[in-house]
Amino acid sequence: MPTSSAARILDQTTPAALRAPSPIVKWVGGKGRLLPQLTPLLPPGVELMRHVEPFVGGGALFFGRRPARALLCDVNPALINTYEAVRDASGEVIGHLEDLASEHSKESYYRVRERYNRARKLTSAQRAAMFIYLNKTCFNGLHRVNRRGEFNVPAGRYKNPNIVNADGVLAASAQLQSAKLVCDGFEGLLSRARPGDFIYFDPPYEPVSETANFTSYAQDGFAREDQMRLRDVFAALDKRGCKLMLSNSDVPFIRELYRAYKIDTIAAPRAINCDAKRRGPVPEVVVRNY
Ligand SMILES: C[S@@+](CC[C@H](N)C(=O)[O-])C[C@H]1O[C@@H](n2cnc3c(N)ncnc32)[C@H](O)[C@@H]1O
Repeated sequence: MPTSSAARILDQTTPAALRAPSPIVKWVGGKGRLLPQLTPLLPPGVELMRHVEPFVGGGALFFGRRPARALLCDVNPALINTYEAVRDASGEVIGHLEDLASEHSKESYYRVRERYNRARKLTSAQRAAMFIYLNKTCFNGLHRVNRRGEFNVPAGRYKNPNIVNADGVLAASAQLQSAKLVCDGFEGLLSRARPGDFIYFDPPYEPVSETANFTSYAQDGFAREDQMRLRDVFAALDKRGCKLMLSNSDVPFIRELYRAYKIDTIAAPRAINCDAKRRGPVPEVVVRNY
């Protein structure tokens, strides 16, 4: 909520499309709090380049940068549908969100989740509104599906979840007008990236725990083999003449994979944690080919 009077005036008078957009979904690994550290690492002249993200998630860097041209990809079809609907039918999405918010309760959360998983005839705007509603009201904003692809996160405990952020949806919609959206795995980038693109890779991170020794250990279905295939894509796009930036955890395996490139360390502020060992900033790497 804006607190200063200047912010209040801006809030009342600025058309949503002119306001700075920000992510419309909470996303695990979202880069919102790291933007001040990532921005100085962008390549010179980035304003003129196409902005490409193969792991867009909540899109913190895209919405924070507001590029004039973008290609946004993710392997999650429900997420990409949500961005398409917000871009092309924001009014409908907001209308459905208002309906969902007006009847929100723990019981209705489970009814909506059931309908989202079972109903075949939802429009893309209805599906997007349900996706945003479930994201805003589920446990920790997690996105998890079972083997049948059904969303199975339990309800969260929020007193007043901000379900309808109409201005936020309109601002995101305005920014998404410049974006091509594609649902695909990261290797699809090999047929889409062009010389001179700026590409930001933000994959699921390599775990920092001892279990990281197992080569097949997979977090979010992203195993060490995937990290290796991603490095090969990075190397191919380096040769193609793209400007590349990649985030990952600061572990020897990742440093070794990208040893041919420039590696900086940044510290990710961690959310408040009652476990003292889990307080304080967590180091992570930013790999660049420039
Ligand atoms: C760490 S999150 C990205 C966070 C994002 N930068 C943000 O600010 O919210 C990683 C994303 O990669 C996607 N993903 C996982 N495996 C993928 C794959 N093989 N190809 C493309 N995207 C993938 C996930 O759906 C998730 O949205």
